[in-house]
Amino acid sequence: MLDQQHKRRIDDLFDAMNAANESFLGYPFAKGFSYESLWRFMTVSGNNFGDPFGPQTYRVNSRLLECEVIEFFAGLFRAAPSETWGYITSGGTEGNTYGLYLGRELFPNGVAYFSNDTHYSVSKAVRLLRLEHAVVQATPSGEIAYDDLAQQASRFRRRPAIVVANIGTTMKEGKDDVSKVRQALHSAGVEEVYIHSDAALCGPYAPFQSPRTPFDFVDGVDSIMLSGHKFFGAPVPCGVVLARKQHVQRVLRTSNYVESADATLSGSRSAYTPIVLWYAIRNLGADGIKRMFEQCEGLAGYAVDQLSASGISAWRNPSALTVVLPPVEECLGAKWQIMTQDVSRVVVTPGTTKKQIDALVEAMKIDR
Ligand SMILES: Cc1ncc(COP(=O)(O)O)c(C=O)c1O
Repeated sequence: MLDQQHKRRIDDLFDAMNAANESFLGYPFAKGFSYESLWRFMTVSGNNFGDPFGPQTYRVNSRLLECEVIEFFAGLFRAAPSETWGYITSGGTEGNTYGLYLGRELFPNGVAYFSNDTHYSVSKAVRLLRLEHAVVQATPSGEIAYDDLAQQASRFRRRPAIVVANIGTTMKEGKDDVSKVRQALHSAGVEEVYIHSDAALCGPYAPFQSPRTPFDFVDGVDSIMLSGHKFFGAPVPCGVVLARKQHVQRVLRTSNYVESADATLSGSRSAYTPIVLWYAIRNLGADGIKRMFEQCEGLAGYAVDQLSASGISAWRNPSALTVVLPPVEECLGAKWQIMTQDVSRVVVTPGTTKKQIDALVEAMKIDR
């Protein structure tokens, strides 16, 4: 039993997190989701360790739902079901690490390429995996510069390439076209290529965007990851990684403990995040995801229009949910939790309201 003082600390923390949830526009996390009917799972132990598709005597898990989530995204990303495997990760960072791990196991002598607009999880992963890498220029829209990729790759033309393609960069939601990535590497004389799509934010809606940037299994990638807590929103971070089975075979390790060969990175894995993601996809279906994306996209367009009409040079990539702004003042950044690098950005995720956008526009007008 908590004493009064500790009970107050918990109450205060809940109020503070609630208030912070109300006032952020700068990070790509959906708001206003409700998983209340899942609360009862907080009273039972759960652990999805091991391969979600493998046999196990341990039954305190949600692996059946995890497999359905994987199958759903395999469909969305046009993967051949019998040739694709995946699992639910702790987040996008684990998904990127996993994709690069598969790439390195396929090509131990490979060189990793990614643009300088890439999320820092990729630099972390290449360091961890001791992968030699080359950082490629990004264009002002956040897309990788294919000519620079070709030039850098020509220095290592006899070595395989392991590429992280951004399907939505962190700051500008810039997208790398995997067909153009392949062309650039081919023109540089590189013959063996592994491509991992980092679709942290855009994964759920990239299939519905127009114009559609090539990024999925039919387009020729080897693995794809997304963050579950970004577009869908979740009370705890989570992610999905999918990969071609032929690559996964290479990292399978048998373990007496899990009773089946295991190809996941972690040991114990959450049994709750698969339930949350399953609940989200079953509630929405592909049509619901598309509708939710279209609503956000409309509001992102509205934000750009309103900011531009107020003389603020805001822009976004075609059909993106990320609105790129000139660096905002510190107090505004603190109020709306807006991250600033060379630019600032606002991400119109599900749960973002017109009222919030209007309030931001007003505040930016005053700050000019
Ligand atoms: C493009 C991109 N990749 C990867 C990540 C890492 O994802 P996570 O925070 O789920 O580990 C992020 C997070 O913002 C991201 O924007």
